[in-house]
Amino acid sequence: EEADIGLVGLGVMGENLALNIADNGYKVAVYNRTADKVDAFLANAGDLKSNVMGSGELATFISMLKRPRSVIIMVKAGDPVDQVIAELKPLLEEGDVIIDAGNANYHDTVRRFSELDGTGIGFLGIGVSGGEEGARHGPSIMVGGSEAQWENAEAVLTAISAKFNGEACCAYLGTGGAGHFVKTIHNGIEYADMQMIGEIYGIMRDGLGMSPEDCAKVFEEWNKGPLDSYLIEITGHVLNAKDEGTGKPLVDVILDAAGQKGTGRWSAIEALNLGVSATTIEGAVAARSISAMKDERVRGEEIYGAGVKGNATISLEALEKALLAGKIAAYAQGFAVMAKASEDNGWNLPLATIAKIWRAGCIIRSRFLDQISQAFDSGGAANLLTQPAFVDMMKDSNGALRAVVATCAINELPAPCLSSALAYFDAYRQARGTTNLTQGQRDFFGAHGFKRLDKDGDFHHTWPSLIGQ
Ligand code: 6PG
Repeated sequence: EEADIGLVGLGVMGENLALNIADNGYKVAVYNRTADKVDAFLANAGDLKSNVMGSGELATFISMLKRPRSVIIMVKAGDPVDQVIAELKPLLEEGDVIIDAGNANYHDTVRRFSELDGTGIGFLGIGVSGGEEGARHGPSIMVGGSEAQWENAEAVLTAISAKFNGEACCAYLGTGGAGHFVKTIHNGIEYADMQMIGEIYGIMRDGLGMSPEDCAKVFEEWNKGPLDSYLIEITGHVLNAKDEGTGKPLVDVILDAAGQKGTGRWSAIEALNLGVSATTIEGAVAARSISAMKDERVRGEEIYGAGVKGNATISLEALEKALLAGKIAAYAQGFAVMAKASEDNGWNLPLATIAKIWRAGCIIRSRFLDQISQAFDSGGAANLLTQPAFVDMMKDSNGALRAVVATCAINELPAPCLSSALAYFDAYRQARGTTNLTQGQRDFFGAHGFKRLDKDGDFHHTWPSLIGQ
Protein backbone atom coordinates (compact mmCIF):
# COMPACT_ATOMS: atom_id res chain seq x y z
CA GLU A 1 0.00 0.00 0.00
CA GLU A 2 1.29 3.42 -0.90
CA ALA A 3 1.38 6.53 1.25
CA ASP A 4 -0.02 9.84 0.00
CA ILE A 5 2.79 11.76 1.62
CA GLY A 6 6.04 11.19 3.52
CA LEU A 7 7.39 12.91 6.59
CA VAL A 8 10.99 13.06 7.76
CA GLY A 9 11.72 13.97 11.39
CA LEU A 10 9.74 12.60 14.30
CA GLY A 11 10.31 15.32 16.85
CA VAL A 12 7.16 16.47 18.63
CA MET A 13 6.16 18.73 15.75
CA GLY A 14 6.83 16.09 13.07
CA GLU A 15 5.07 13.36 15.01
CA ASN A 16 2.01 15.54 15.55
CA LEU A 17 1.89 16.64 11.91
CA ALA A 18 2.03 12.99 10.82
CA LEU A 19 -0.84 12.08 13.18
CA ASN A 20 -2.79 15.08 11.91
CA ILE A 21 -2.31 13.90 8.31
CA ALA A 22 -3.42 10.37 9.22
CA ASP A 23 -6.38 11.77 11.15
CA ASN A 24 -7.55 13.52 8.00
CA GLY A 25 -7.76 10.26 6.11
CA TYR A 26 -4.45 10.44 4.25
CA LYS A 27 -1.86 7.70 4.41
CA VAL A 28 1.44 8.97 5.73
CA ALA A 29 4.85 7.29 5.76
CA VAL A 30 7.41 8.43 8.32
CA TYR A 31 11.18 8.29 8.59
CA ASN A 32 13.51 9.29 11.39
CA ARG A 33 17.28 9.12 11.65
CA THR A 34 16.94 7.21 14.94
CA ALA A 35 14.95 4.19 13.78
CA ASP A 36 13.56 3.44 17.28
CA LYS A 37 11.43 6.54 16.96
CA VAL A 38 9.78 5.16 13.85
CA ASP A 39 8.92 1.90 15.63
CA ALA A 40 7.59 3.76 18.64
CA PHE A 41 5.52 6.05 16.45
CA LEU A 42 3.96 3.15 14.54
CA ALA A 43 3.34 1.21 17.73
CA ASN A 44 1.56 4.15 19.35
CA ALA A 45 -0.58 5.19 16.38
CA GLY A 46 -3.68 3.56 17.94
CA ASP A 47 -6.81 4.16 15.89
CA LEU A 48 -4.76 5.73 13.14
CA LYS A 49 -2.68 2.58 12.59
CA SER A 50 -4.16 1.86 9.19
CA ASN A 51 -3.08 5.27 7.88
CA VAL A 52 0.54 5.20 9.05
CA MET A 53 3.57 3.31 7.85
CA GLY A 54 7.28 3.97 7.99
CA SER A 55 10.84 2.80 8.04
CA GLY A 56 14.12 3.64 9.71
CA GLU A 57 15.75 3.04 6.35
CA LEU A 58 15.47 6.01 3.97
CA ALA A 59 15.23 4.10 0.66
CA THR A 60 12.51 1.83 2.08
CA PHE A 61 10.63 4.89 3.32
CA ILE A 62 10.84 6.48 -0.14
CA SER A 63 9.61 3.28 -1.77
CA MET A 64 6.43 3.54 0.30
CA LEU A 65 5.41 6.83 -1.36
CA LYS A 66 2.94 7.34 -4.17
CA ARG A 67 4.38 9.01 -7.30
CA PRO A 68 4.93 11.89 -7.74
CA ARG A 69 6.25 11.84 -4.19
CA SER A 70 5.77 14.57 -1.62
CA VAL A 71 8.10 14.55 1.38
CA ILE A 72 7.67 16.91 4.30
CA ILE A 73 10.83 17.67 6.27
CA MET A 74 10.29 18.64 9.90
CA VAL A 75 13.77 18.80 11.41
CA LYS A 76 15.71 21.52 13.21
CA ALA A 77 16.18 24.56 10.97
CA GLY A 78 19.62 25.08 9.46
CA ASP A 79 22.18 22.41 8.53
CA PRO A 80 19.96 19.43 9.39
CA VAL A 81 17.59 20.50 6.58
CA ASP A 82 20.45 20.59 4.06
CA GLN A 83 21.62 17.17 5.22
CA VAL A 84 18.18 15.64 4.77
CA ILE A 85 17.81 17.23 1.31
CA ALA A 86 21.23 15.84 0.32
CA GLU A 87 20.19 12.35 1.41
CA LEU A 88 16.79 12.54 -0.28
CA LYS A 89 18.06 13.88 -3.60
CA PRO A 90 19.50 10.66 -5.04
CA LEU A 91 16.37 8.75 -4.05
CA LEU A 92 13.87 11.15 -5.62
CA GLU A 93 13.07 11.76 -9.27
CA GLU A 94 11.61 14.37 -11.56
CA GLY A 95 8.22 15.62 -10.40
CA ASP A 96 8.75 14.77 -6.72
CA VAL A 97 8.62 17.57 -4.18
CA ILE A 98 10.40 18.27 -0.91
CA ILE A 99 8.43 20.41 1.56
CA ASP A 100 10.42 22.12 4.33
CA ALA A 101 7.99 22.76 7.17
CA GLY A 102 10.50 24.05 9.71
CA ASN A 103 11.26 27.62 10.82
CA ALA A 104 13.76 28.21 8.02
CA ASN A 105 15.50 31.49 7.42
CA TYR A 106 13.99 32.48 4.06
CA HIS A 107 17.44 33.16 2.61
CA ASP A 108 18.19 29.45 3.15
CA THR A 109 14.91 28.60 1.43
CA VAL A 110 15.86 30.75 -1.57
CA ARG A 111 19.26 29.01 -1.71
CA ARG A 112 17.64 25.57 -1.51
CA PHE A 113 15.35 26.45 -4.40
CA SER A 114 18.34 27.35 -6.55
CA GLU A 115 20.28 24.25 -5.47
CA LEU A 116 17.39 22.02 -6.56
CA ASP A 117 16.87 24.01 -9.72
CA GLY A 118 17.49 21.83 -12.78
CA THR A 119 17.18 18.54 -10.86
CA GLY A 120 13.46 18.24 -11.64
CA ILE A 121 12.84 17.88 -7.90
CA GLY A 122 10.47 20.54 -6.65
CA PHE A 123 10.59 22.41 -3.38
CA LEU A 124 8.12 24.20 -1.14
CA GLY A 125 9.03 26.28 1.91
CA ILE A 126 6.09 26.31 4.29
CA GLY A 127 5.72 28.14 7.57
CA VAL A 128 3.79 26.12 10.14
CA SER A 129 2.55 27.85 13.27
CA GLY A 130 0.63 26.63 16.25
CA GLY A 131 3.06 24.77 18.43
CA GLU A 132 2.49 21.12 19.35
CA GLU A 133 -1.28 21.40 19.62
CA GLY A 134 -1.52 23.20 16.31
CA ALA A 135 0.57 20.61 14.53
CA ARG A 136 -1.68 17.85 15.89
CA HIS A 137 -5.11 19.45 15.42
CA GLY A 138 -4.67 22.22 12.86
CA PRO A 139 -1.84 24.70 12.38
CA SER A 140 -1.76 27.83 10.26
CA ILE A 141 0.22 27.08 7.10
CA MET A 142 2.03 29.71 5.00
CA VAL A 143 3.13 28.34 1.64
CA GLY A 144 5.93 29.55 -0.63
CA GLY A 145 7.20 28.04 -3.87
CA SER A 146 5.95 27.35 -7.38
CA GLU A 147 2.21 27.20 -7.86
CA ALA A 148 2.49 23.87 -9.66
CA GLN A 149 4.14 22.26 -6.62
CA TRP A 150 1.54 23.84 -4.39
CA GLU A 151 -1.24 22.27 -6.41
CA ASN A 152 0.23 18.80 -5.72
CA ALA A 153 0.35 19.37 -1.97
CA GLU A 154 -2.72 21.60 -1.64
CA ALA A 155 -5.27 18.94 -0.70
CA VAL A 156 -3.27 17.47 2.20
CA LEU A 157 -2.00 20.80 3.56
CA THR A 158 -5.46 22.36 3.40
CA ALA A 159 -7.01 19.35 5.12
CA ILE A 160 -4.60 19.38 8.05
CA SER A 161 -4.73 23.16 8.60
CA ALA A 162 -6.79 25.01 11.20
CA LYS A 163 -10.21 26.27 10.15
CA PHE A 164 -11.69 29.67 10.97
CA ASN A 165 -15.46 29.61 10.46
CA GLY A 166 -14.86 26.77 8.03
CA GLU A 167 -12.17 28.62 6.05
CA ALA A 168 -8.81 26.84 5.90
CA CYS A 169 -5.89 28.66 7.50
CA CYS A 170 -3.56 27.58 4.75
CA ALA A 171 -2.68 29.54 1.65
CA TYR A 172 -0.21 29.87 -1.15
CA LEU A 173 1.48 33.23 -0.59
CA GLY A 174 4.13 33.57 -3.27
CA THR A 175 7.20 32.18 -4.97
CA GLY A 176 10.51 31.16 -3.40
CA GLY A 177 10.97 32.12 0.21
CA ALA A 178 7.60 33.90 0.59
CA GLY A 179 6.11 31.32 2.99
CA HIS A 180 9.10 31.22 5.30
CA PHE A 181 9.44 35.01 5.17
CA VAL A 182 5.83 35.45 6.27
CA LYS A 183 6.31 32.86 9.04
CA THR A 184 9.37 34.77 10.21
CA ILE A 185 7.38 38.00 10.43
CA HIS A 186 4.58 36.08 12.20
CA ASN A 187 7.15 35.17 14.83
CA GLY A 188 8.50 38.73 14.97
CA ILE A 189 5.00 39.96 15.71
CA GLU A 190 4.64 37.10 18.21
CA TYR A 191 7.76 38.40 19.99
CA ALA A 192 6.35 41.96 20.13
CA ASP A 193 2.94 40.73 21.32
CA MET A 194 4.54 38.64 24.08
CA GLN A 195 6.94 41.38 25.15
CA MET A 196 4.17 43.98 25.41
CA ILE A 197 2.10 41.59 27.51
CA GLY A 198 5.21 41.09 29.65
CA GLU A 199 5.65 44.84 30.09
CA ILE A 200 2.02 45.22 31.18
CA TYR A 201 2.53 42.32 33.64
CA GLY A 202 5.61 44.19 34.92
CA ILE A 203 3.53 47.29 35.65
CA MET A 204 0.92 45.17 37.45
CA ARG A 205 3.56 43.32 39.48
CA ASP A 206 6.06 46.08 40.27
CA GLY A 207 4.07 49.25 39.76
CA LEU A 208 0.75 48.19 41.24
CA GLY A 209 1.98 45.41 43.54
CA MET A 210 -0.47 42.84 42.19
CA SER A 211 -0.13 39.08 42.81
CA PRO A 212 0.11 36.65 39.88
CA GLU A 213 -3.41 35.42 40.66
CA ASP A 214 -4.75 38.97 40.54
CA CYS A 215 -2.95 39.59 37.26
CA ALA A 216 -4.41 36.35 35.89
CA LYS A 217 -7.93 37.54 36.65
CA VAL A 218 -7.33 40.73 34.71
CA PHE A 219 -6.01 38.85 31.66
CA GLU A 220 -8.99 36.48 31.83
CA GLU A 221 -11.27 39.51 31.77
CA TRP A 222 -9.36 41.13 28.90
CA ASN A 223 -9.70 37.95 26.92
CA LYS A 224 -13.40 38.72 26.60
CA GLY A 225 -12.74 42.14 25.02
CA PRO A 226 -10.79 43.59 22.09
CA LEU A 227 -7.58 41.85 23.22
CA ASP A 228 -9.24 38.41 22.92
CA SER A 229 -6.41 36.18 21.69
CA TYR A 230 -4.55 32.95 22.30
CA LEU A 231 -1.58 34.76 23.86
CA ILE A 232 -3.77 36.67 26.35
CA GLU A 233 -5.59 33.43 27.17
CA ILE A 234 -2.42 31.48 27.92
CA THR A 235 -1.03 34.43 29.88
CA GLY A 236 -3.94 33.95 32.28
CA HIS A 237 -3.19 30.22 32.54
CA VAL A 238 0.53 30.77 33.09
CA LEU A 239 -0.09 33.38 35.80
CA ASN A 240 -2.56 31.09 37.55
CA ALA A 241 -0.34 28.02 37.60
CA LYS A 242 1.11 26.81 40.93
CA ASP A 243 4.51 25.21 41.32
CA GLU A 244 3.97 21.67 42.59
CA GLY A 245 7.09 21.55 44.71
CA THR A 246 6.85 24.86 46.56
CA GLY A 247 3.17 25.73 46.20
CA LYS A 248 4.23 29.17 44.98
CA PRO A 249 2.89 30.74 41.82
CA LEU A 250 4.89 29.09 39.04
CA VAL A 251 5.86 32.42 37.40
CA ASP A 252 7.54 33.42 40.64
CA VAL A 253 10.00 30.53 40.41
CA ILE A 254 10.73 30.75 36.67
CA LEU A 255 14.08 32.39 35.80
CA ASP A 256 13.62 35.72 34.03
CA ALA A 257 15.91 34.93 31.09
CA ALA A 258 14.20 34.33 27.75
CA GLY A 259 15.44 32.01 25.03
CA GLN A 260 15.22 32.77 21.33
CA LYS A 261 15.81 30.60 18.31
CA GLY A 262 16.26 33.34 15.73
CA THR A 263 13.02 34.16 13.95
CA GLY A 264 12.42 37.35 15.95
CA ARG A 265 15.95 38.53 15.28
CA TRP A 266 15.62 37.69 11.57
CA SER A 267 12.44 39.77 11.41
CA ALA A 268 14.27 42.78 12.80
CA ILE A 269 17.24 42.21 10.47
CA GLU A 270 14.98 41.93 7.42
CA ALA A 271 13.12 45.09 8.43
CA LEU A 272 16.41 46.96 8.77
CA ASN A 273 17.56 45.66 5.38
CA LEU A 274 14.28 46.71 3.78
CA GLY A 275 14.41 50.15 5.39
CA VAL A 276 11.10 49.65 7.18
CA SER A 277 10.62 50.61 10.81
CA ALA A 278 9.95 47.55 12.98
CA THR A 279 11.01 49.02 16.30
CA THR A 280 8.49 47.05 18.33
CA ILE A 281 10.00 43.80 17.07
CA GLU A 282 13.53 45.14 17.61
CA GLY A 283 12.50 46.17 21.12
CA ALA A 284 11.18 42.70 21.84
CA VAL A 285 14.33 40.99 20.57
CA ALA A 286 16.51 43.39 22.56
CA ALA A 287 14.40 42.76 25.66
CA ARG A 288 15.05 39.01 25.37
CA SER A 289 18.77 39.67 24.91
CA ILE A 290 19.02 41.87 28.00
CA SER A 291 16.86 39.39 29.92
CA ALA A 292 19.48 36.72 29.27
CA MET A 293 22.16 38.87 30.99
CA LYS A 294 20.82 37.97 34.42
CA ASP A 295 24.11 38.41 36.32
CA GLU A 296 24.77 41.83 34.84
CA ARG A 297 21.25 42.96 35.71
CA VAL A 298 21.69 41.77 39.27
CA ARG A 299 24.88 43.86 39.47
CA GLY A 300 23.10 46.76 37.79
CA GLU A 301 20.43 46.76 40.47
CA GLU A 302 23.13 46.74 43.15
CA ILE A 303 24.70 49.81 41.56
CA TYR A 304 21.60 51.84 40.72
CA GLY A 305 19.03 50.57 43.20
CA ALA A 306 15.90 48.56 42.62
CA GLY A 307 13.65 51.37 41.47
CA VAL A 308 10.39 52.39 43.07
CA LYS A 309 7.91 49.60 43.75
CA GLY A 310 4.16 49.67 44.18
CA ASN A 311 3.88 53.40 43.56
CA ALA A 312 2.28 53.57 40.16
CA THR A 313 -1.08 55.20 39.69
CA ILE A 314 -2.57 53.85 36.51
CA SER A 315 -5.92 52.19 35.89
CA LEU A 316 -6.33 48.66 34.58
CA GLU A 317 -8.48 50.15 31.84
CA ALA A 318 -5.53 52.28 30.72
CA LEU A 319 -3.30 49.20 30.69
CA GLU A 320 -5.80 47.35 28.50
CA LYS A 321 -6.06 50.22 26.04
CA ALA A 322 -2.29 50.74 25.99
CA LEU A 323 -1.83 47.10 25.08
CA LEU A 324 -4.31 47.50 22.24
CA ALA A 325 -2.56 50.63 20.95
CA GLY A 326 0.82 48.91 21.19
CA LYS A 327 -0.57 45.93 19.31
CA ILE A 328 -1.84 48.16 16.51
CA ALA A 329 1.63 49.71 16.13
CA ALA A 330 3.35 46.30 16.18
CA TYR A 331 1.04 44.79 13.57
CA ALA A 332 1.25 47.96 11.46
CA GLN A 333 5.02 47.51 11.44
CA GLY A 334 4.90 43.77 10.74
CA PHE A 335 2.52 44.18 7.82
CA ALA A 336 4.54 47.13 6.50
CA VAL A 337 7.64 44.92 6.48
CA MET A 338 5.75 42.27 4.51
CA ALA A 339 4.40 44.85 2.06
CA LYS A 340 7.91 46.14 1.31
CA ALA A 341 9.42 42.66 1.08
CA SER A 342 6.65 41.71 -1.30
CA GLU A 343 7.47 44.66 -3.52
CA ASP A 344 11.22 44.06 -3.47
CA ASN A 345 10.93 40.31 -4.11
CA GLY A 346 8.05 40.45 -6.58
CA TRP A 347 5.98 38.17 -4.34
CA ASN A 348 2.69 40.00 -4.53
CA LEU A 349 1.93 38.89 -0.97
CA PRO A 350 -1.82 38.82 -0.29
CA LEU A 351 -1.92 40.76 3.00
CA ALA A 352 -5.64 40.14 3.57
CA THR A 353 -5.13 36.40 3.08
CA ILE A 354 -2.19 36.41 5.48
CA ALA A 355 -4.36 38.04 8.14
CA LYS A 356 -7.07 35.46 7.38
CA ILE A 357 -4.84 32.42 7.77
CA TRP A 358 -3.56 33.87 11.07
CA ARG A 359 -7.08 33.99 12.54
CA ALA A 360 -6.86 30.38 13.76
CA GLY A 361 -4.20 27.74 14.37
CA CYS A 362 -1.20 30.04 14.86
CA ILE A 363 0.27 31.48 18.05
CA ILE A 364 -0.87 35.07 17.35
CA ARG A 365 -4.46 34.10 16.50
CA SER A 366 -6.91 36.67 17.77
CA ARG A 367 -10.07 38.65 17.23
CA PHE A 368 -7.75 41.49 16.21
CA LEU A 369 -6.56 39.53 13.15
CA ASP A 370 -10.13 39.14 11.97
CA GLN A 371 -10.40 42.93 12.07
CA ILE A 372 -7.14 43.26 10.14
CA SER A 373 -8.33 40.86 7.46
CA GLN A 374 -11.56 42.84 7.10
CA ALA A 375 -9.60 46.09 6.83
CA PHE A 376 -7.32 44.74 4.09
CA ASP A 377 -10.28 43.13 2.35
CA SER A 378 -11.90 46.51 1.97
CA GLY A 379 -8.77 47.86 0.28
CA GLY A 380 -6.81 50.91 1.36
CA ALA A 381 -3.22 51.47 2.28
CA ALA A 382 -0.89 48.80 3.61
CA ASN A 383 -0.21 50.62 6.89
CA LEU A 384 -2.79 49.70 9.48
CA LEU A 385 -2.50 53.15 11.04
CA THR A 386 -4.38 54.56 8.06
CA GLN A 387 -7.08 51.90 7.89
CA PRO A 388 -10.35 53.51 9.10
CA ALA A 389 -11.24 50.87 11.71
CA PHE A 390 -7.75 51.09 13.19
CA VAL A 391 -7.70 54.89 13.00
CA ASP A 392 -10.72 54.89 15.31
CA MET A 393 -9.12 52.38 17.68
CA MET A 394 -5.82 54.25 17.72
CA LYS A 395 -7.50 57.59 18.35
CA ASP A 396 -9.31 56.02 21.27
CA SER A 397 -6.31 54.20 22.74
CA ASN A 398 -3.10 56.16 22.08
CA GLY A 399 -3.71 58.44 25.07
CA ALA A 400 -3.66 55.38 27.33
CA LEU A 401 -0.44 54.16 25.72
CA ARG A 402 1.06 57.59 26.40
CA ALA A 403 -0.04 57.48 30.05
CA VAL A 404 1.33 53.97 30.50
CA VAL A 405 4.70 54.76 28.92
CA ALA A 406 4.94 57.90 31.09
CA THR A 407 4.06 55.83 34.17
CA CYS A 408 6.81 53.36 33.28
CA ALA A 409 9.36 56.15 32.84
CA ILE A 410 8.50 57.78 36.16
CA ASN A 411 8.36 54.48 38.04
CA GLU A 412 11.63 53.19 36.58
CA LEU A 413 9.97 50.27 34.82
CA PRO A 414 11.41 49.21 31.45
CA ALA A 415 8.91 49.21 28.60
CA PRO A 416 11.05 48.93 25.45
CA CYS A 417 8.25 47.62 23.27
CA LEU A 418 5.39 49.83 24.43
CA SER A 419 7.59 52.92 24.29
CA SER A 420 8.78 51.98 20.78
CA ALA A 421 5.16 51.60 19.75
CA LEU A 422 4.36 55.07 21.05
CA ALA A 423 7.44 56.61 19.42
CA TYR A 424 6.53 54.97 16.11
CA PHE A 425 3.00 56.31 16.31
CA ASP A 426 4.13 59.82 17.20
CA ALA A 427 6.68 59.81 14.38
CA TYR A 428 4.16 58.37 11.91
CA ARG A 429 1.65 61.15 12.55
CA GLN A 430 4.18 64.02 12.60
CA ALA A 431 4.04 65.83 9.24
CA ARG A 432 7.11 67.98 9.97
CA GLY A 433 9.83 65.84 11.53
CA THR A 434 13.32 66.80 12.62
CA THR A 435 15.53 65.21 9.99
CA ASN A 436 15.74 68.56 8.21
CA LEU A 437 18.44 69.12 10.82
CA THR A 438 20.01 65.72 10.10
CA GLN A 439 20.13 66.62 6.42
CA GLY A 440 21.78 69.91 7.27
CA GLN A 441 24.39 68.10 9.36
CA ARG A 442 25.03 65.55 6.63
CA ASP A 443 25.49 68.30 4.14
CA PHE A 444 27.78 70.18 6.54
CA PHE A 445 30.25 67.38 7.14
CA GLY A 446 29.92 65.38 3.95
CA ALA A 447 28.37 67.55 1.24
CA HIS A 448 25.55 64.98 1.03
CA GLY A 449 23.07 67.52 -0.30
CA PHE A 450 19.41 68.03 0.61
CA LYS A 451 16.05 68.76 -0.89
CA ARG A 452 14.05 71.90 -0.14
CA LEU A 453 10.44 72.33 0.85
CA ASP A 454 9.95 75.29 -1.47
CA LYS A 455 11.82 74.26 -4.65
CA ASP A 456 12.47 71.06 -6.61
CA GLY A 457 15.99 69.76 -7.16
CA ASP A 458 19.11 68.89 -5.18
CA PHE A 459 20.84 71.54 -3.12
CA HIS A 460 24.11 71.92 -1.27
CA HIS A 461 25.54 74.72 0.82
CA THR A 462 29.11 75.90 1.00
CA TRP A 463 29.06 75.64 4.77
CA PRO A 464 32.42 77.19 5.80
CA SER A 465 31.57 80.44 4.03
CA LEU A 466 28.06 80.33 5.46
CA ILE A 467 29.34 80.22 9.04
CA GLY A 468 31.97 82.84 8.27
CA GLN A 469 35.13 80.64 8.25
C1 6PG B 1 4.75 29.05 16.23
C2 6PG B 1 5.88 29.48 17.10
C3 6PG B 1 6.99 28.52 16.99
C4 6PG B 1 8.06 28.67 18.04
C5 6PG B 1 9.25 29.42 17.57
C6 6PG B 1 9.59 30.72 18.25
O1 6PG B 1 4.39 29.87 15.38
O2 6PG B 1 4.26 27.95 16.38
O3 6PG B 1 6.34 30.75 16.74
O4 6PG B 1 7.47 28.58 15.69
O5 6PG B 1 7.59 28.97 19.27
O6 6PG B 1 10.26 28.49 17.65
O7 6PG B 1 10.46 30.44 19.25
P1 6PG B 1 11.55 31.21 20.06
O8 6PG B 1 10.78 32.02 21.04
O9 6PG B 1 12.26 30.06 20.66
O10 6PG B 1 12.42 32.02 19.15
